[in-house]
Amino acid sequence: LVPAGVFVAGAFAVTYLNSKTSNVGELAFDNPVAVPPVLEPRVDADGRKHFDLRLQTGRSELLPGRSTETWGVNGAYLGPTIRARTGDDVTMHVRNDLPEASSLHWHGMRLPAKMDGGPHQEVAPGATWSPHWTVKQPAASLWYHPHPHGKTAKHVYRGVSGMFLVDDAESDGLELPDEYGVDDIPLVIQDKKFTEDGELASGNESILDESVSGETGILGDTILVNGTHDPHFQASRTLTRLRVLNGSPARIYNLGFDDGRSFRVIGTDSGLLPAPQERERVVVSPGERVELLVRLEPGESPVLRSFPGGVGAGFPQDRLSGGDDTFDLIQLRAPTTLEPSQDIPEKLAEGERLTAPPDARVREFKLGGTSRINGERMDMARIDEVVPAGAIEVWEVRGGGNPHSFHIHDVAFRILDIDGEPPPAWLAGRKDTVYLPPGKRVRLVVEFGTDVDPEVPYMYHCHLLYHEDNGMMGQFVIVEPGREDEVPRTLDMDG
Ligand code: C2O
Ligand code: CU
Repeated sequence: LVPAGVFVAGAFAVTYLNSKTSNVGELAFDNPVAVPPVLEPRVDADGRKHFDLRLQTGRSELLPGRSTETWGVNGAYLGPTIRARTGDDVTMHVRNDLPEASSLHWHGMRLPAKMDGGPHQEVAPGATWSPHWTVKQPAASLWYHPHPHGKTAKHVYRGVSGMFLVDDAESDGLELPDEYGVDDIPLVIQDKKFTEDGELASGNESILDESVSGETGILGDTILVNGTHDPHFQASRTLTRLRVLNGSPARIYNLGFDDGRSFRVIGTDSGLLPAPQERERVVVSPGERVELLVRLEPGESPVLRSFPGGVGAGFPQDRLSGGDDTFDLIQLRAPTTLEPSQDIPEKLAEGERLTAPPDARVREFKLGGTSRINGERMDMARIDEVVPAGAIEVWEVRGGGNPHSFHIHDVAFRILDIDGEPPPAWLAGRKDTVYLPPGKRVRLVVEFGTDVDPEVPYMYHCHLLYHEDNGMMGQFVIVEPGREDEVPRTLDMDG
């Protein structure tokens, strides 16, 4: 056991309980994992689906017998699962009852920039924002979270996020586990750091406090799944589909099972894979999603664990801790009888593989330190890149000494190569966020949307939220092809 650390933050001395790098052997998996409810929309006469979302404060029992101040959506911690179909017209009614401005960003959604919920669409306390769009992308497990300028880490860490599942005719037709809460469950994985009195470390001030953040941001040693501490999931069928979201501010998980069993990866951020891929480990960085199928025999109880080595060999999560982090996340429990599931389909999504035309434009992005892309820090008034509508480009992204997680709004991409090597098959599908191990170069084929708006930018950034808030973010606009040079590169922030 590492002794509790004492950090001096401003005038306050704050004592943190932790700095552990493993919880293996400490959990009893006593608590049934919470499954976020599906939010029922109101459907109007035109068939448009309206979803009501209220950002609010509250208190939650994140640790047994302790009460912690948290934030959530339609509740004290996390938010409901939103579900829509390709082709749906949706309107979100986002009411902000937090004490400060926030926003809700639909991570992974292709939609007009002014509906995106990024830092240019902040919602004042007491105000309601009602973006609307038509869902025009294939089935995938997306998510939503706040994106206020410089404060994303704080708002997400305190609990504001949820899943946004898209279904389509193709996903309906596949014989995959799809009974929500029964054999199809979201797993929102988040690490927390608590103060001695049970509050979230840095929860009331800026998460940018360097004494807490180091170079990576908050790395907690209590892992919650869907907000549940020490959780288990009671299976009832032989196959369980886990829609895993790394909703943590900075922690990178190297997921596998304690008994070494393999599982099938069926989907990543922006859609299902062409075929299931058998794996024993998957690395999931902040913002990424991965859909897994796990087979259980009656009476089994494997534990989903994050193993060392996720960040890269010899590179611990937190260079200051020097630890080789190993954390148990959740136990899957099979009773003595299980209902048999259907066989795993051999083929999944038929969609065309994203390829780059030979003359595709190549853009380079160098992520530097904890705060810069191509030498610049984020400036809300500066347009960094201008992209023609519908373009397919190659984005080449490189990091320095720190791990990063690179996300682009509005797009789907495919990984071309990682340091010149093609990605493993499970990582070769449709994505919107990619893990960038220290010092590596990743090339992406990126498919942009067609919603033209030269005045409202989309973001690309590191999804380690401390890095994002610290300035590791840039802005691009989508314009009519051929008009790239006519677009102003600065925005009037007063108008
Ligand atoms: Cu998940 Cu720009 O965000
Ligand atoms: Cu980063």
